[in-house]
Amino acid sequence: MLASTWNDVDTTIADLLVPDEDVLSAALDACRTAGMPPHHISRPQGKMLSLFAEMVSAKRILEVGTLGGYSAIWLGRALPPDGVLLTLEINERHAEVARENLSRAGLEGRVEVRVGEAAKSLEALVAEAPAPFDLVFIDADKPNNVTYFTHALALSRPGTVILVDNVVRNGALADRDSTDPSVIGSRAVLEAMAKEPRVHATVIQTVGEKGYDGFALARVVS
Ligand code: DHB
Ligand code: MG
Repeated sequence: MLASTWNDVDTTIADLLVPDEDVLSAALDACRTAGMPPHHISRPQGKMLSLFAEMVSAKRILEVGTLGGYSAIWLGRALPPDGVLLTLEINERHAEVARENLSRAGLEGRVEVRVGEAAKSLEALVAEAPAPFDLVFIDADKPNNVTYFTHALALSRPGTVILVDNVVRNGALADRDSTDPSVIGSRAVLEAMAKEPRVHATVIQTVGEKGYDGFALARVVS
């Protein structure tokens, strides 16, 4: 099976079910113009995030790794009017672009972009003991995935859904000898999920516009 077929199918899916919108293409244009890496999710994946948020009737969403705010748009638009999305970003310039993108999407009031190292922001957040989040999307630097997952769990309640992006990494997940810190971090977060009695978890492999990758899906059960 050719990667070009994956792309054609992804385009077909997007055209059928997730038609492009000015606010989405403008967000990606702004990311490109700002020189960000092309690590944003695809349109069908964005819709999937929205659907997950709707499925758990999420009112409080946490995102680790904002980049240009593209996934935050998808998560934010699934919130009810009184819902909130807190998204953590290390890079001040990226956060600025994300705020502009979110504002164009009409989500200014519902989304807070917090700048800083995510591990530190999460530590501070845990110390505040806020109301639990209903959904957490982890999509930042992969070597710190276990740290992010551990904090996410501390900010969860039974029923919270935790997603971790990019854990399959073009199949490198299966390479136990990999020395790539992102592969090691991705494998480690799955090991952490496996031995954590508070979650039920799996991984779904994906192909398409973003190549061959996959995401972890965990549900907090206690
Ligand atoms: C990488 C990070 C991402 O969030 C993504 O969606 C794809 C790749 C990376 O760091 O390689
Ligand atoms: Mg990602």
